[in-house]
Amino acid sequence: MSKKPSEPNYQITHPLDRPVIWIIALVFFAIAAGFFFLPTGNSIPIPGPANVSPADINPAPRFKVLSDPPKAMINGFERTCMDCHVIIDAKPHSTDLHQHANIKLQHGLNTRCVNCHDAKDRNKLATLDNKTFDYAQASQLCAQCHGPVYRQWERGIHGKTLGYWDTKLGKAEKLTCTQCHNPHHPRFDPIKPLPGPNTLRMGEQDTEDTPHHDGHKKNPLLLPQAPETTDSHLPANESKH
Ligand code: HEC
Ligand code: HEC
Ligand code: HEC
Ligand code: HEC
Repeated sequence: MSKKPSEPNYQITHPLDRPVIWIIALVFFAIAAGFFFLPTGNSIPIPGPANVSPADINPAPRFKVLSDPPKAMINGFERTCMDCHVIIDAKPHSTDLHQHANIKLQHGLNTRCVNCHDAKDRNKLATLDNKTFDYAQASQLCAQCHGPVYRQWERGIHGKTLGYWDTKLGKAEKLTCTQCHNPHHPRFDPIKPLPGPNTLRMGEQDTEDTPHHDGHKKNPLLLPQAPETTDSHLPANESKH
């Protein structure tokens, strides 16, 4: 009887009996513990709250429009215009006034008081073609010389509307020209800008506001960091224009 060829020796071992399994498990465990306990090295800069005065973001009108009939504080007394003006004849071309010294007209070529004020009835404003308006309707007065801005204002492109967008819920209040502009010097003085947006992506803002300030801090979230440009207040990956 010939010997049967020997069968291949398949040895089945339990996986947990293999030392290599335990070594791999230990290594993974060590890595997980490392992620958990070791410091990451990157701290995320969280900027403090911007220092903004509530008065700078107050949406209320800048001026309160004169009442009807208009009153003015003159030499410490509140008077209506016609208290005096019934007896004062208008001098339409006078620039040297003996009253109202607080009013310094800075309105470009618009240098005459009677371009806007009715020469006879001081309770009214008047256009050059003698249409009169109450002080509350001053926008109509501005319209005769500032047509384009007036039309933009009518359509809501210039100026501001407060109150409700949906007029079923409440009133929409469109501010008049003289609630924002002083009619006697309508140009705004330069307005101090509010702080810009400060997101993590933009990095820490350079607190010293000089264009070539060297103490610029690198942002760990903006990687890779390109070599420092001369304009060091820009984020390093932003190209100069
Ligand atoms: C205390 C009295 C008094 C009161 C109140 C008064 N005015 Fe006058 N106003 C004067 C005098 C005085 C002059 C200067 C006249 C002159 O210099 O010849 C003048 C001049 C003017 C002028 C320019 C010159 C002219 O004759 O056109 C305007 C515009 C004017 N007043 C508007 C007003 C308005 C608007 C009010 C109310 C908000 C008002 N005044 C209230 C006394 C007054
Ligand atoms: C661009 C148009 C315009 C011109 C020019 C103008 N005013 Fe006025 N003035 C107005 C309007 C509008 C008001 C109302 C402001 C408000 O409702 O608060 C006003 C208000 C006044 C008042 C009452 C409020 C205050 O500030 O005391 C006086 C007084 C006055 N004007 C005098 C004058 C005098 C004097 C001149 C010329 C030197 C003059 N105005 C030129 C448009 C004008
Ligand atoms: C009689 C014509 C006339 C009336 C009425 C008039 N303005 Fe003017 N306004 C002018 C002129 C002229 C200038 C100067 C433009 C310049 O210097 O480029 C000017 C300039 C201005 C400016 C500055 C523009 C700039 O480029 O900075 C503002 C804002 C302004 N007016 C607002 C008003 C308001 C608000 C009223 C109504 C209360 C008004 N104006 C009424 C003629 C007028
Ligand atoms: C909500 C406030 C607000 C109201 C309401 C408003 N303005 Fe202005 N206006 C501004 C501001 C802010 C500027 C920009 C000033 C600057 O750039 O220096 C400006 C600029 C202007 C200028 C000069 C710049 C330009 O666009 O030509 C004119 C003229 C002017 N306004 C006229 C008017 C007239 C007329 C009305 C009414 C029909 C009016 N404004 C209503 C806030 C207002």
